[in-house]
Amino acid sequence: MLLLPLPLLRTTSLLLLLLTFATTGNGKQQCRLVMNSNLNGGGGDPQVPLSATPTSTGTTASASATLAPFNYGKDIIRGVNLGGWFVLEPWITPSIFENTTNSDIIDEYTFGQLQDSDHALSVLQDHWETWITEDDFAAIKAAGLNHVRMQIGYWSVPITSADTNYSTSVDPYIPGAWPYLLQALGWAKKHGIHVILDLHGAPGSQNGYDNSGRRGSADWAQGTNVARTVDIVRFIADQIGGMIDVLELLNEAGGYQDDIAAVIADYWQDGYDAVRNVSGTSLKVMIGDAFLGVASWDGFLTSPTAQGVLMDYHEYQIFNYDQIEMSQDEHLNYSCSVLSTLRSYAKSNLYTVSGEWSNAITDCAKWLNGRGIGARWDGTWQDGQPTFGSCDGYTGDSSTFSDEYKTFLRKYFESQVAIGEAVQGWIFWTWKVENADDWSYQKGLEGGWIPKDPTDRLYPDICPGA
Ligand SMILES: *[C@@H]1O[C@H](CO)[C@@H](O)[C@H](O)[C@H]1NC(C)=O
Ligand SMILES: *[C@@H]1O[C@H](CO)[C@@H](O)[C@H](O)[C@H]1NC(C)=O
Ligand SMILES: *[C@@H]1O[C@H](CO)[C@@H](O)[C@H](O)[C@H]1NC(C)=O
Ligand SMILES: *[C@@H]1O[C@H](CO)[C@@H](O)[C@H](O)[C@H]1NC(C)=O
Repeated sequence: MLLLPLPLLRTTSLLLLLLTFATTGNGKQQCRLVMNSNLNGGGGDPQVPLSATPTSTGTTASASATLAPFNYGKDIIRGVNLGGWFVLEPWITPSIFENTTNSDIIDEYTFGQLQDSDHALSVLQDHWETWITEDDFAAIKAAGLNHVRMQIGYWSVPITSADTNYSTSVDPYIPGAWPYLLQALGWAKKHGIHVILDLHGAPGSQNGYDNSGRRGSADWAQGTNVARTVDIVRFIADQIGGMIDVLELLNEAGGYQDDIAAVIADYWQDGYDAVRNVSGTSLKVMIGDAFLGVASWDGFLTSPTAQGVLMDYHEYQIFNYDQIEMSQDEHLNYSCSVLSTLRSYAKSNLYTVSGEWSNAITDCAKWLNGRGIGARWDGTWQDGQPTFGSCDGYTGDSSTFSDEYKTFLRKYFESQVAIGEAVQGWIFWTWKVENADDWSYQKGLEGGWIPKDPTDRLYPDICPGA
C-alpha cells in the first residue's frame, strides 16, 4: 500500500515516476541482461565479474530514461551518503528533536512512540520534502560525484502480508517515506547519479545505535526478525530493483554481539538468494563486514557461488579512546594504514567500498553519541576518562575553524579518498548536517577543504603506495 501524501501530488515528476513504477512494479528487470566478461576488475585483479550491460534500448518509459549501467570493477565509486533523510539521526537534525521539547525522544522509534502520530507524520513529511531536494542531486553531480548511498528503515518499506508470513507491523514507527524515496530515485536518474540503497534499520535494531532507528539493545538476531528482514529485502528488490544500482542488505550489523555474529553470514547468504530470486545480476548486492574486519569474509559470496556482490567497509577514528587520542598526523597515518588491509582483501574477494567515513577527528558534534550524551573529546561523555581539550573550533559552524584546521581537513579528506580510490571507491558521510561542518560534504565544498573536483589533489603523495 502506497500512502501518497497529498502535497506531493503537485510534483509532476513523481506522478510520472509512479506511473512507471506501476507498470513495472512486478516486472523485476526492465532490460534483458547479459554478463560482459570484458568488465572484469581493474588492475588485472582476479575479482568477481560484476557488470552486466543492457542489450536492448528498452521500450518502457523508465527503460528509455535509464542511466547507463555503472562499470563496477572498472570505474571508481565517488559518492556521498544522504544521511539523516529517511532515517532520522538526532545529531544530523537536532532541531527536529529539540522541537519535540521531550528529551525522551532520542531516535525515530521514540519520535513515533512519544507524540501524537498525526503531528509526527506532518513533521516527518516536511523533513522528507525539504532535507534533500532535486537541487541537491544536481549539486552532487556538479561536485563530480557518481553515487549516492541512501538510507531507508524497514518501517518505510510497504511490504504487505501477501509478501511475508511474518509481522508487517512497524508500530510505533511512522511509515510514509517510500513515495519520497521513489521520487528521489527519479531525480538520481535524471541527474546521472547511481544509487546504493542501504537498509539502515532492521526489525529489533541490528546495532542499538540511534541510526538504526532505535537506540538501546540490538535485538535483531532474536525471534523472527532476521527471517522478516530477508522478506523485506526480497520485496525491495522485487519492487524497485530495476531503479537502483546496488541494494545493501543491512548497514552496520553489530557483529560485536555474539547472537548477531552467529546469524550474520546466514543472513547475507539468504538475503543474497532472496534478491537474486527476484532480480537479474544487473542489481548488485552489498554486504558489510559487521565490525569483524574484512579479513573475516575471505572467500565469502565470491564468484562463482555468487555474482555481483560488493563489500562495504566503514572507517571512523573517533569512537574509541585509543583512536580519538591520535594526533592529526597519526590520523593521517592511520587512514593510510587501512589501505593494505582493504587492498589485500579486495585483490581476491569482493569489490570493496569505503562506504562511510568523515572528516571528523573529534566526537564533538552535538549528540553524535546520542541525544543528551556528551563527547569523549571534552570529557562530557563519561567520568574518569581522559579528555583532550575544548570542542571549540572543531565542529559546528566552520566560521570557527582555523586555517590550520582547514588545511588538516583537506589532507584528511585526500588521505581517505586515496584509500577508496585504491579499491572500488568511497562514499563520504554525509552530504548535509544541520550544524557540524566537519561532517558535511556541502560545507567542505564551500569552505575549500573538499575539492570541487574530487580527483584534484593538493597532497598527491599523502598515502605512500596508494
Ligand atoms: C520547530 O517548531 C517551530 C514552531 O512550531 C516551527 O516553525 C519550525 O519549523 C520547527 N522546526 C522543525 C525542524 O520542525
Ligand atoms: C508463507 O508460507 C507458506 C507455507 O509455508 C508458503 O507456501 C508461502 O510461500 C509463504 N509466503 C511467503 C510470502 O513467504
Ligand atoms: C530462492 O528460490 C529457490 C528456488 O525457488 C528457493 O528454493 C529458495 O528458498 C529461495 N530462497 C530465498 C531466500 O528466497
Ligand atoms: C603509522 O601506522 C602504522 C600502522 O598502524 C603504525 O605501525 C605506525 O606506528 C604509525 N606511525 C606513526 C608515526 O604514527
